[in-house]
Amino acid sequence: MSNTNSRGFTSNLGAILAAAGGAVGLGNIWRFPYMLGQNGGGAFLLVYILFVLMIGIPLMMTEFIIGRRSQRNVVGAYKTLGGKQKGWVLLGIFGIVAAFLIYAFYSVVAGWTLNYLVMSCRGQLAGLPPEEVANVFSTFTQGSFWPLFFQLIFLVMTGLVITMGVQKGIEKVGKILMPVLFLLLILMCVRSLTLSGSHQGMSFLFKPDFSKLTGQSILSALGQSFFSLSIGMGAMVTYGSYIRKEDRLFKTSIWIALCDLLVAVLAGIVIFPAVFAFGMDPASGPELVYVVLPNVFNNMPAGTLFAVIFFLLLAIAALTSTISLLEIIVAFGVEELHWKRSTASLVGTILVFVVGVFCTLSFGPLKDVKIFDRTIFEFFDLITASYLMPIGALLMTIFLGWCYPKVEVKDELSNNGTLKVRAFELYYIILRYIAPLALIAIIISGIVG
Ligand code: PFF
Repeated sequence: MSNTNSRGFTSNLGAILAAAGGAVGLGNIWRFPYMLGQNGGGAFLLVYILFVLMIGIPLMMTEFIIGRRSQRNVVGAYKTLGGKQKGWVLLGIFGIVAAFLIYAFYSVVAGWTLNYLVMSCRGQLAGLPPEEVANVFSTFTQGSFWPLFFQLIFLVMTGLVITMGVQKGIEKVGKILMPVLFLLLILMCVRSLTLSGSHQGMSFLFKPDFSKLTGQSILSALGQSFFSLSIGMGAMVTYGSYIRKEDRLFKTSIWIALCDLLVAVLAGIVIFPAVFAFGMDPASGPELVYVVLPNVFNNMPAGTLFAVIFFLLLAIAALTSTISLLEIIVAFGVEELHWKRSTASLVGTILVFVVGVFCTLSFGPLKDVKIFDRTIFEFFDLITASYLMPIGALLMTIFLGWCYPKVEVKDELSNNGTLKVRAFELYYIILRYIAPLALIAIIISGIVG
């Protein structure tokens, strides 16, 4: 059955690049390296890869099945597929709320990338001693006007792309920016690998030391794989509804997950050899990219140029992800509330900014406002990545694995029986048993702490 889906992507490549753009983001280049640095390196990478392959890919397929089967946004999808079981609509609403909260804190860090891009272009970080580099970061993030200004610019850019539509906005931007991102990333890898002393960073990244692995780090790897693949709150349901009926969901999910994995590994190859070559601390945490790397750039030949390339790369990765976050909300506004795309985009952007202001200011004027002992930004990060996404994913596996007919699942995955999906039974076992159990483990460990 051919799908001249006028509301969706025009080609399989377009779908893969757009969805890979949604998955590849700050999670790969900012969050993944610092998590790996804090969790002992190579062993974390290995566990992470296993989770992506064993649980991440099947769950991405699950979201695609729900989206493409229903041809609707995340709320409409559960309304359509849930049929008489009306309660599942709440899972869709849960997805919208999660997208909203992620977008609010994610856009803060996205704004930082723009500021660092501008500063690198103007050479403002060049030649600064390490204490000054750290100072620049804290002075900037603790301020009010500039962090809010850059956050707003990012939100507006995202809103404009979304207003242009699925084909002329999301798909086109993915097709242009994803290849650029890969190119810049490879350039950065070459730079990093040709630094003398880079081998130490490579062995940190690739030589697993299992004694460094704790229960907590295994769960962090699982949580990171969810965050990185954008699973559990409807981004891939929404994009799944735009995938053509003749495309293979199995193959499409594998390609997207592999792109995401590759970018995370390449980001590791960019960051760790350089960090080790200049004797910096790989376990410095969320500041790794903003405080440690500028020092690294300052020490390398042509550092200013590579700083510009790196922050451009980070901004591109962030933009394709914020696009997928806003699209979850806008698709809901357009299809369920019957708003115009531009109205939905404007309303979504304004609402996110109103909440996002609190996240930004929680580094400065509001840093003493604590929710469960955390700043507003930390609280949003924690509640979404550690709770809402795993809970959303768990409920989704229960829905598709236990409450929706197996024949229909198989039908969608096999394009109405026209494709042989040999791994279907394996997929279904993961969907019904393995993924839910792993998810329950993450959620409980998050609660027990
Ligand atoms: N996967 C994105 C990243 O790794 O940066 C983050 C993200 C985007 C999560 C979109 C969820 C989402 F819906």
